[in-house]
Amino acid sequence: MKILLTGGAGYIGSHTAVALAALGHELVCFDNLSNSSADVIERVESISGASFPLVVGDIRDGDGLRQAMTDHGVEAVVHFAGLKAVGESVADPVRYYDNNVVGTLALVGAMADCAVKTLVFSSSATVYGQPQYLPLDENHPTSATNPYGRTKLMIEEMLADIAAADPAWRIGILRYFNPVGAHDSGMIGEDPNGIPNNLMPYISRVAGGRLPELSVFGADYDTPDGTGVRDYVHILDLAAGHAAALGALAKLDRPLSIWNLGTGQGYSVLDMVAAFERVNAVKVPYRLSPRRAGDVASCFASPDKAKAELAWEASRGLDAMCASSWTFERARAMRNTKA
Ligand code: NAD
Ligand code: WQD
Repeated sequence: MKILLTGGAGYIGSHTAVALAALGHELVCFDNLSNSSADVIERVESISGASFPLVVGDIRDGDGLRQAMTDHGVEAVVHFAGLKAVGESVADPVRYYDNNVVGTLALVGAMADCAVKTLVFSSSATVYGQPQYLPLDENHPTSATNPYGRTKLMIEEMLADIAAADPAWRIGILRYFNPVGAHDSGMIGEDPNGIPNNLMPYISRVAGGRLPELSVFGADYDTPDGTGVRDYVHILDLAAGHAAALGALAKLDRPLSIWNLGTGQGYSVLDMVAAFERVNAVKVPYRLSPRRAGDVASCFASPDKAKAELAWEASRGLDAMCASSWTFERARAMRNTKA
């Protein structure tokens, strides 16, 4: 299939490009490079041995999208493009609604104009809000606790309306839990600008000496060791989930599907620190600190629906997540030394 990846130069998009190219799909990346760089495209091409043309454009530009879809004969879209920093979304909600919601509206409009009606969308477990029960299945009530989460919910609702109005659509909403890790080559991974918000990139930078210590946000939660529990999923498993979703959409006789992508297994912050230190033989100094506003104690998936309908299951464990994150951190340092 010819597939357009919006946000394809980003963390999840680049790993998914490698996975889709390995299955023989022809890809085109549409990205405004607001949180990525064009070098990533070259690295995806070098890992996969396939070409990955980049259209530098913004998803709010419907004409640009129509042009890219027509030029490349696009048949399906995997939509990663979006802003994702929770704190930033609280400080500047207008930018988040504009980029994420208005951008997705422009995208689905352009797709309809080009008669491209297969869409996989990057949603998030954040749409479950404060868990009412665990594990979280796809029927758990949804709510949002910050503007970023609200953009995901609004987009999900918009997509449900579009699917209801025109059953020719095949829309797959993927609710990711906590994606971590990197490609084994160390050539692509997660390298946020500035100080990371997420745990794994923070741990990597502390281990690599770029940051002095990790603040563990809260040690008094109702969890086995008092620190927050999350469902960390290896980026290569997550990437494979997109290929599985595209395959299922082609076969399923319904316009809208929602799937959790998680492992079903929760680990605490201290579990993550201990695993990272053990697997990589490094030290991750940390300090127990106050809770971070808006955090929940525990969050993990029921991955049963994805297993049943996508034949997808995460196969990589914590050790592989920690090892590949460290490989990427060291490779990044080597690249910067050479540059
Ligand atoms: P990322 O920032 O690495 O990638 C997003 C890409 O989209 C970047 O390359 C950026 O330049 C591009 N982009 C942003 N706005 C754009 C626009 N208006 N037009 C064109 N390109 C634009 O983020 P990621 O971690 O790869 O996340 C991808 C998607 O998955 C996002 O929608 C995010 O909300 C969602 N998600 C991420 C996580 C996570 O923990 N990483 C969890 C759940 C959901
Ligand atoms: C994980 C655990 C923290 C950093 C966020 C978004 C969510 C989704 C994924 C996009 C928590 C603890 C973290 C640190 C710490 N993104 N922590 N010290 O909060 O589960 O989810 O990213 O959709 O929307 O909210 O992930 O990696 O930030 O935190 O102790 O420096 O690590 O308190 O328990 P989170 P995270």
